[in-house]
Amino acid sequence: MKILVTGGAGFIGGNFLRIMVPLHPEDTFVCFDALTYAGHRATIDGLEDYPNFRFVQGDIRDGEAVDALFAQEHFDAVVHFAAETHVDRSQKDANPFWETNYRGTCVLLSAAYLHRVKRFHHVSTDEVYGGQSLDEDDHPCDEGAVLHPTNPYAASKAASDLAVLSYGQAGNIAVTISRCTNNYGPYQHPEKLIPLCFSLAKQDKEIPIYGQGLNRRDWIYVEDHCRAIDKILRQGKSGEIYNISGHASLTNLEVVQRILGLLGKPLDRIAFVADRPNHDGKYVIADRKIESELGFVPSVAFEEGLEKTIRWYLDHEGWLQSIWEEEEYRSWMKDHYR
Ligand code: NAD
Ligand code: TYD
Repeated sequence: MKILVTGGAGFIGGNFLRIMVPLHPEDTFVCFDALTYAGHRATIDGLEDYPNFRFVQGDIRDGEAVDALFAQEHFDAVVHFAAETHVDRSQKDANPFWETNYRGTCVLLSAAYLHRVKRFHHVSTDEVYGGQSLDEDDHPCDEGAVLHPTNPYAASKAASDLAVLSYGQAGNIAVTISRCTNNYGPYQHPEKLIPLCFSLAKQDKEIPIYGQGLNRRDWIYVEDHCRAIDKILRQGKSGEIYNISGHASLTNLEVVQRILGLLGKPLDRIAFVADRPNHDGKYVIADRKIESELGFVPSVAFEEGLEKTIRWYLDHEGWLQSIWEEEEYRSWMKDHYR
């Protein structure tokens, strides 16, 4: 297969390529990425040595560039990761989220249809089902649950899910969607909780926890998510949605305490700061379908995955350091955390 991977210079797309390019030498992977503030060539460094990998810099909102790429490459499949992904940023300026997550996905769908791509896999999120209150019992959402996004990031992902499904329902392209819980692992941008906490702890700075730190997230090691996507791409049924859970629901406070513990830093580094507006308490999804239909279960327990992750950041401090030196990131940190 010739596979287009959008957003492959980002966190999950980069891990996906690092696993799949060597694992599937019979397939060719073309990474298409705009290299926004969230994308870095260093994340896919070394992959160009493989004959089955190529990087193309470009924007999924650019219809002409996307069409030219599809005309030239004759892709068999698309795995679509490219997106604006940070909830906090979406609450400050939602426009890039509508533009990339919704309109960019439509541009890709249109090109995939015109150029007769056989399979389109859309990487989505559990956030489309909306948050549940912390003082309520868990109500696991299966793939048929009502979409109830509560922030612009989640709403733009939900909108893109519906666009993907519409192409599938019309029988225009074979589509699949995965909705995964929070990922952690190597190459994650330090705007997100786990690498942010690692970086600040290493610099002996305070770790900002929103509210009281009692909000919960279900964490999956990024390699498990990538394996699940590969399974869906190769064995998933067209038109289907698959939830992917890490089976590791922890409060933000528990996550940060564990990181500080692994780094041997004191817990008094934690600073409780103003809460995220409309902060989703927890996301709860049912993932029986991917287990029963595709035999996928996550294989990395949270304790093991977190240790591997912290070890990786310790061994690759230059990767995080270069982001800390970017003007864009410095001004985000200054503006957001004052
Ligand atoms: P990320 O922010 O680390 O990377 C996004 C990548 O997309 C970057 O390389 C960026 O340069 C690229 N990109 C952004 N806009 C683009 C555009 N207009 N054209 C081309 N490329 C563009 O994101 P991530 O955390 O790796 O998430 C990848 C996908 O997985 C997203 O669709 C996200 O919604 C989904 N997801 C993420 C998580 C998570 O916990 N991180 C969980 C579930 C689903
Ligand atoms: P984040 O990594 O931004 O992912 P998401 O919003 O997609 O779940 O945040 C994970 C959790 O950590 C979320 O409940 C918000 C919280 N959080 C903090 O408490 N402090 C922070 O500085 C950040 C970035 C997140």
